[in-house]
Amino acid sequence: MPVTAIVGAQWGDEGKGKVVDTLAAHADVVVRYNGGNNAGHTIQNERGTFRLHLLPSGIFHPASQCVVGPGVVVNPDALLSEIDEVERAGVPTVGRLWLDQRAHLVFPYHIAMDELEEAARGGAPHGTTKQGIWPVYADKAGRTGIRVGDLLEAGHLTEQIRFVAARKSALFRGVYRHEPVDAGAMLARCGRWTDRLRPYITDTHPLIQEALRADRMILLEGQLGVMRDLDWGVYPYVTSSTTLAGGASAGAGIPPYRITRVLGIAKAYTTAVGAGPMPTELCDATGDLIRELGQEYGATTRRPRRCGWFDGVAARFAAEVAGFTQLAVMKLDIFDTFDAVRLAVAYRLDGRTVHTVPHTAAMGRVEPIYEELPGWRAPTQGARRLTDLPVEARVFLRRIEEIVGVPITMIGVGAGRSDVIFTQESVP
Ligand code: GDP
Ligand code: IMO
Ligand code: MG
Repeated sequence: MPVTAIVGAQWGDEGKGKVVDTLAAHADVVVRYNGGNNAGHTIQNERGTFRLHLLPSGIFHPASQCVVGPGVVVNPDALLSEIDEVERAGVPTVGRLWLDQRAHLVFPYHIAMDELEEAARGGAPHGTTKQGIWPVYADKAGRTGIRVGDLLEAGHLTEQIRFVAARKSALFRGVYRHEPVDAGAMLARCGRWTDRLRPYITDTHPLIQEALRADRMILLEGQLGVMRDLDWGVYPYVTSSTTLAGGASAGAGIPPYRITRVLGIAKAYTTAVGAGPMPTELCDATGDLIRELGQEYGATTRRPRRCGWFDGVAARFAAEVAGFTQLAVMKLDIFDTFDAVRLAVAYRLDGRTVHTVPHTAAMGRVEPIYEELPGWRAPTQGARRLTDLPVEARVFLRRIEEIVGVPITMIGVGAGRSDVIFTQESVP
């Protein structure tokens, strides 16, 4: 049984939620391994449309155990409102949702710092989701973070909170000219969180080890995409966690060699929210058309997403650093009415042709070199086999495979759970 890492191949929002929801029909365990509620993973199934931010996208399959892994940062208020939402839709969570004790907690001061630093950047913000992501990972690295397991250790928690509130208050008063952090309010908040989260908090290590020993099917669900990875993305316009399959190993507690399949998720085009270079962005009617047809508005912030052609240079780079063994191409149906489609196959940089992702400043001035292919001008949503697709669509997909260097095993032809084609190599 494979352990599969689901990794975003672009700038995020590639359709990871849909892929996990689809594959989880066969999964025993689904683990979210990085990020926090900056994620917005959309799922459309028989229960409705859901935008999950922290819950693993396997939650709708009653037989799947769902783990929020140690690499995730958890805003308990956001998690609890998601738990309420899925429970209202008839999905039980107690006894199958597990929150690892090692995951770090997002507090209101993290969110305030994110907002204040974005404001301090004036006209050039990074365009974060303002969910406190970098401040909580900074505290984690700075070893002043407060973890989920601390909620169950009252004495230790009180000590930590007193120290952190004093340090943050000095920062807030002195640097931000902002009201201080109230230790009493933090403790009261933690008390409320503990009351409700107690049934979910655990050490997920034994559960994961048992699943590995029993050779169960495990899905590792990533947040964001390689181009926003802390090390390999367009720094500083990145997030603060590792979005690669390596992050899946550390963030879920699974040895790297046990990950047998790394499924990169891409869209048939590129989108990004937030600032930073995106070479294939189209600031024209075609970009607007992709946005409208693809309904490209942020699942977390509702911001319009920047849209453009498929960037083969960035996708190949992503495949190389994250080690994709397979590729899923979602939203093929968005091009059903296009006369022609384009793919970036290289960049022009200062008079040279390059085939890899350069330093961020240089990435901001590259010019994509495109290849144009004929469109198919036919509906694809009902297609369930590769041979159901028009020949032009298959040529387009074949070209993506060649450029990225990875076989395509899943093709998205609609937002619903069943709107997917599994090619021969797929192991659902
Ligand atoms: P994620 O963050 O990677 O999970 O992706 P998002 O949920 O933020 O964005 C993907 C959007 O595309 C969602 O609205 C999905 O419902 C939708 N979607 C996913 N796959 C397909 C597809 O193949 N076709 C269409 N039309 N929509 C899709
Ligand atoms: P999913 O998991 C798309 C972007 C933000 C910003 C940068 C840093 O749904 O693909 P952060 O709040 O993490 O400090 O923001 O990353 N960003 C996302 N873009 N999808 C996401 O998640 C994102 N999470 C963060 O817009 O540019
Ligand atoms: Mg998303």
